[in-house]
Amino acid sequence: MDGNGRWAQSRGLERVDGHREGVQSVTACLETAAREGVKYLSLYAFSEENWNRPKDEVSTLMSLMMRQVECQAEKLMKNHIRFRVLGNRERLGLALNAAIDGLEKMTAGNDGTTLIVFLSYSGKWDILQAMKKAARELSDQEFQDLEITDFDRYLVTAGIPDPDLLIRTSGELRISNYLLWQSAYTEFYFTDVMWPDFREEQFREALAAYASRDRRYGKVK
Ligand code: IPE
Ligand code: MG
Repeated sequence: MDGNGRWAQSRGLERVDGHREGVQSVTACLETAAREGVKYLSLYAFSEENWNRPKDEVSTLMSLMMRQVECQAEKLMKNHIRFRVLGNRERLGLALNAAIDGLEKMTAGNDGTTLIVFLSYSGKWDILQAMKKAARELSDQEFQDLEITDFDRYLVTAGIPDPDLLIRTSGELRISNYLLWQSAYTEFYFTDVMWPDFREEQFREALAAYASRDRRYGKVK
């Protein structure tokens, strides 16, 4: 989700107004995903690198997150949505972690769309923590015998399929340390639309573009 700041600045508003408007896009895309039977909707909400933004922007983003976690329970339950937060959770603080835990537990049994919010996440961090975890849990021999498919279970996304489609808004053409391992065969979709303007129509366009892709996974047809 990119372009909140530029969306706001181009309207003479504060960056945080862009983040607030961006929340409406999250709601729109989540509703569309649920209606279309999308099994997993992942949102890259805050990267490890985003901690280096000005303090007041970081705290606004965290309070926005907190407010959403506190007020979305009813809606998630009604729409059978399962909620997960993945990332370096240690950096999030006690109150936010507790609220997230509560919502994850409450929605754990839901069998509709799984909404995964990546918070304080980076792909390199994920690979490194996976490696450390595997080294802790496995004997030297088991570690040496580790296969690519076995490694998946040490990543924070264990048990979650690799993404089929990755959408990046705001005209930026890079992955910015998102799901590096998991996106090996992901289809990419780039759009100039700023995140606050990315609503149902734009999401459906991306889904339609995905539907016309030919995925060969390096093989010949
Ligand atoms: C994306 O919008 C939201 C977050 C990273 C939290 P930006 O804040 O990156 O907006 P721009 O890129 O400055 O326009
Ligand atoms: Mg940005």
